[in-house]
Amino acid sequence: MRPYVIINVAMSLNGRISSINGSIKISDDYDWNRTIDLRKSVDAVLIGAGTVMVDNPELKHARSRIILDGNYKLNDNYKVFDGGVPTYIITGVDVSLKNVIVIKLNDLDMKNILNVLYEHGIKSILVEGGANVISQFFLNKLYDEFYIYINPGMILSGMPVFNGFEASVNYNILKLGDGILLKIK
Ligand SMILES: NC(=O)c1ccc[n+]([C@@H]2O[C@H](COP(=O)([O-])OP(=O)(O)OC[C@H]3O[C@@H](n4cnc5c(N)ncnc54)[C@H](OP(=O)(O)O)[C@@H]3O)[C@@H](O)[C@H]2O)c1
Repeated sequence: MRPYVIINVAMSLNGRISSINGSIKISDDYDWNRTIDLRKSVDAVLIGAGTVMVDNPELKHARSRIILDGNYKLNDNYKVFDGGVPTYIITGVDVSLKNVIVIKLNDLDMKNILNVLYEHGIKSILVEGGANVISQFFLNKLYDEFYIYINPGMILSGMPVFNGFEASVNYNILKLGDGILLKIK
């Protein structure tokens, strides 16, 4: 069994999720409020170590947080380790961080990670990034809902949400503020 998985990402019109210099505001207030509602609706919000290092998010309103850090690059100074809500780190190596529940796994395949999280009582997850993590969920079809908010602006030289593969998807389009919300089926 795996948790119910929602993927949510915000990108520019040309498919970039961050600038070459790192973090950049892409969501407008409408999209931010929608994202907060999604966070409140699930047991946990999941992000990769790359997002922690670039954005240093707190993941406000998350009931619990899951950080993927296979080779353990992070440290106690990041906001996700503030002890505010239960925070899990999924890794393949020994980790010494305060305020975290360490899940050390030999098999870091995303399907195995999801099975293990389900056994820990996490029945629903919001995947918020970044590109590496989202690509794994998408490629392995490990999602139940997938939302892409598209800001009408362009980000030149930024990081693409997907890299190196092609896929054809069906989607619904909704207008949201000045942007567009795609719901991938
Ligand atoms: N616009 C948006 O909606 C949005 C949202 C979030 C983030 N972002 C942007 O995305 C960028 C970061 O993306 P990114 O692709 O560089 O990094 P990322 O996807 O956030 O994190 C990648 C890291 O997660 C770890 N990881 C991935 N899969 C794993 C697995 N199966 N098991 C254990 N660990 C795993 C890896 O660590 P190891 O290499 O050690 O295995 C990898 O280095 C930032 O610039 C951020 O601003 C944008």
